[in-house]
Amino acid sequence: MKLRVYHNLDPPRLHQLWHSCRLGPNAAEGFPRDLFELFSVSQPCFDRKGLIVAEVSGRVVGFVHAGFAPNREESGLDYTRGQICALMVHPEFRRQGIGKALVREAEQYLHREGASTVTAGAGLNQNGFYCGIYGGLEASGFCSEEFPAGFLTGKLGYQPGERTLVFRRDLKRSRDPVSARLLRHRRSLSMVITDRNLSESWWWFSRFGHLDSLRFDLKQRDSEQVVASAQIIGMDLFIPKWGVRSVGLRGVNVPEEARKQGYGQSLLLEICRRLRNESVQLVEAHVADQNTPATQLFRSSGFECRCELLTWTRTLDGPTG
Ligand SMILES: CC(C)(COP(=O)(O)OP(=O)(O)OC[C@H]1O[C@@H](n2cnc3c(N)ncnc32)[C@H](O)[C@@H]1OP(=O)(O)O)[C@@H](O)C(=O)NCCC(=O)NCCS
Repeated sequence: MKLRVYHNLDPPRLHQLWHSCRLGPNAAEGFPRDLFELFSVSQPCFDRKGLIVAEVSGRVVGFVHAGFAPNREESGLDYTRGQICALMVHPEFRRQGIGKALVREAEQYLHREGASTVTAGAGLNQNGFYCGIYGGLEASGFCSEEFPAGFLTGKLGYQPGERTLVFRRDLKRSRDPVSARLLRHRRSLSMVITDRNLSESWWWFSRFGHLDSLRFDLKQRDSEQVVASAQIIGMDLFIPKWGVRSVGLRGVNVPEEARKQGYGQSLLLEICRRLRNESVQLVEAHVADQNTPATQLFRSSGFECRCELLTWTRTLDGPTG
């Protein structure tokens, strides 16, 4: 087995490997090779030294993709916070030490570039790669159903990190909740929809810039005051796998002074109503498990937690064995 860094002839073989690795329900499949390149090696933060390929007798049998978290301003990378953005070994070559060797090689790359920690799975809003083809709305972690946690927490010495809850609502099967407050809001509020995302950060554009997006602002009809806003991201690359049109909902925000008055719920229900009219069947949102207000909001708006995306962390304090 040989490990080497990425070169330009790799994308067809990595694309094929992706489709052979049984990555689970949260991985898109059946998309063309150029889209694989777009969401991985064409990303602005791509460094070929961070993508390490495992070969056996000239055949590509696994790869690990290491990268970095964004800085606080989301204007560039924070090189102290390393990540393992993707990791896979072909099923026929598992349990032969290839995954472990790939992780150790990725850690050495991250340490050389200045990382003091590494997070496998990257985390919510942290993965600069594979948004659009892994995780659903975004690549917030590795899928709890498929990824063997014991692989990282055993000999590799990682600790469990953040958990992201994946909420979904099937718009065909679920009915909107009804209340006097919701009816009042429908009369007093209006929705403004825009497709211009000029205020978004570099990080946002590098992750979602290739995908369809719209911004929704719920305003008071009389004062024009915005009481809730959110954005939607198209998830069309999941159609071949899931067989339904899906949309991701993110960036839900209710200004401090407007909270606890049901505006968040009114916004989500109004967005769902409009998406249903556009033949969208599934709406998905990713929420940190610690974020109680957001999890309650999604539950009260007819969403159910369908799976979890997980991360694992480790400090990099020197050469690893
Ligand atoms: C996780 C993965 C990369 C492991 O690769 P691998 O080459 O089989 O791992 P290794 O052989 O290096 O395993 C090293 C150790 O990890 C542990 N381990 C590996 N796979 C394990 C599993 N399925 N369950 C529990 N422990 C496991 C074992 O302790 C193993 O040592 P041992 O075989 O001597 O007992 C592989 O299972 C995989 O590709 N899974 C799917 C990837 C995925 O979902 N990625 C997320 C999206 S990018």
